[in-house]
Amino acid sequence: MTRLGVNIDHIATLRNARGEHHPDPIISAKYVKKVGADSVTIHLREDRRHIKDIDAKRICSIKNLDVNLEISTNKKIVDIAMKINPDFICIVPENRKEITTEGGLDLIKNKNRIQRIVLRFKKKKIRTSLFINPSLKDIEISNQINVDCIEIHTGKLANLVKLKKDYSKELERIKKCSVYANSLGIEVHAGHGLDYKTTKILSKIREIKEFNIGHYLIGESIFHGLKKVINNFKKIIKN
Ligand code: PXP
Repeated sequence: MTRLGVNIDHIATLRNARGEHHPDPIISAKYVKKVGADSVTIHLREDRRHIKDIDAKRICSIKNLDVNLEISTNKKIVDIAMKINPDFICIVPENRKEITTEGGLDLIKNKNRIQRIVLRFKKKKIRTSLFINPSLKDIEISNQINVDCIEIHTGKLANLVKLKKDYSKELERIKKCSVYANSLGIEVHAGHGLDYKTTKILSKIREIKEFNIGHYLIGESIFHGLKKVINNFKKIIKN
């Protein structure tokens, strides 16, 4: 069964806008699980613009909830993540000024550093993942790093679909990368910029085992509620 990970960073953003406690990311994490999410994704950014350390700690201590913690390669953040002990970690590139993660990791430049980080988490039996662009070279390097999973950055495909441009080449690239990673025994995930339409397009790629979706899902929930929207996404990825 393909899994749905729900990114709840945007709920923390809304909470932070008031500087108070509502809406509570901890209650949200429990709720999205209750209404069908297979896991919860949170990103502890270096600037702490949404999820804070205490949120991450409390969310990771919720029983029977798989938590995917996204982190950069920053040493302080890696040390915090090691202490928080999430179920899964996903290493992502981070740039202070970006609105959201803009692309995959530069594995050629950062291979050794990332390999050392992956090893630390693997020793703790934490599932490891790398957020990468759909590139066969990056999958080859991911394999050398011996990571458990890769998450393919789907932002380019999502933008092409939204702009009603030809997305066939990008889809083919994602498909080829998924097949290749799967053949190497690396579990394939996908995420970034996904809505109903793009998730449906990608759900045809059987090798994708997990989708991580945030902004659109949370935004759509304002109109229809988390339960309904999570249910809709679950139905789409089941196809
Ligand atoms: N996966 C990763 C690795 C991400 O960094 C993000 C964005 O935080 C997402 C998935 C979710 O992207 P979106 O909010 O656009 O659905």
